[in-house]
Order: sequence, then C-alpha cells, then structure tokens
Amino acid sequence: MDLTLAPVTADNWRDVADLAPHDEQRRFVAALGARYLLLGVYGETWHNLGVFEGGTAVAHVMWGVDDDGSHWIGGLLVDAHQQGRGIGRATVEALLDGWRADRRLVRASCHPDNTASRALFGSLGFVETGEWDDDELVVERQL
Ligand SMILES: CC(C)(COP(=O)(O)OP(=O)(O)OC[C@H]1O[C@@H](n2cnc3c(N)ncnc32)[C@H](O)[C@@H]1OP(=O)(O)O)[C@@H](O)C(=O)NCCC(=O)NCCS
Repeated sequence: MDLTLAPVTADNWRDVADLAPHDEQRRFVAALGARYLLLGVYGETWHNLGVFEGGTAVAHVMWGVDDDGSHWIGGLLVDAHQQGRGIGRATVEALLDGWRADRRLVRASCHPDNTASRALFGSLGFVETGEWDDDELVVERQL
C-alpha cells in the first residue's frame, strides 16, 4: 500500500472534506472530514493531514502539541469504503515514524465503546492512562 500523508491544500480539501465514516461510527467521530478541517482552520491546536492512496483521499488525521510537549493524534477517520485495509494502522505508524527521532510522548483518545480504535492503538503499543478527555479514554505511547 502506497500511502502519502499530506497537508490539506486548496487543491485537495474537497476530497478530504467528503470523507465519511459508517453511520454507526458517527457517535465516535465527526460525520464528515469537513468538521475536522474547520477545527484546524478555526482552532489553534490541530493540524490537518489528508491521507492519499495515489490521487485518492482515503483518510484524515490531525495532530497537535499540548502545553506539556506531548504530541496528540486526533480526528483519525478512514473513509467507510476504505476501512479494514490497513490504512488506519499505516497512518498512525507514519506519524510515529516522524516523531520517533525526538522520542515524543504521543497521546490520543478513544471512546470506550470504540473497539476498533482501542484495538488499533493497543496493537501499536499505546497504553490506557486512566485519564479521560471528555468522554474518551486517553491512550499514550512513549517513543
Ligand atoms: C478505527 C479506524 C481508524 C481503523 O482504521 P482501519 O483502516 O479500518 O483499520 P486497519 O485496517 O488499519 O486495522 C488496524 C487494526 O485496527 C483494529 N481494527 C480495525 N477494524 C476493526 C474492527 N472492526 N473491529 C476490531 N478491531 C478493528 C485491529 O486491531 C486492526 O489490526 P488487525 O488488522 O491486525 O486485526 C477506522 O475503522 C475508522 O476510521 N473508524 C471510524 C472513525 C474512528 O473510530 N476513528 C478513531 C477515533 S479514536
């Protein structure tokens, strides 16, 4: 699988905005990638990335740096038609690869009922900290 993580630009934002989860996953994540793009534009925390396979947008992810220096992964959304192909795993691994040299503390959060995301982060060495971020469990991995 040849995936590229790239900043969202004037040329690709429409495809990233249209990414959508399965209907039953909307209780875990935004209904459309567009919501995350607006968070990146109007908030001060998050940086949006599109995940592309060839010329096709297949996922969105965003990252941010907390006051304590920990690096957060958020807004991980693999398009419903693209799930189960290894894209979620490859996306998180790509972010970790970029931060490994600086030995970042990496955090994310998962809804407790979101078995797929908890399994994904768990299999990548993230541990549940016992902390909550709103209604989500915080997971972390020290690189
Ligand atoms: C969770 C999500 C990002 C996983 O992405 P994906 O590309 O479908 O997952 P991958 O094919 O890379 O699978 C990676 C691992 O995730 C876990 N996983 C993925 N789908 C799963 C499912 N339906 N049930 C249980 N575990 C699952 C498994 O541990 C899997 O590893 P394995 O293939 O070795 O068993 C994707 O399902 C998604 O976008 N869901 C909706 C949005 C969401 O929940 N985002 C996460 C917010 S924290």
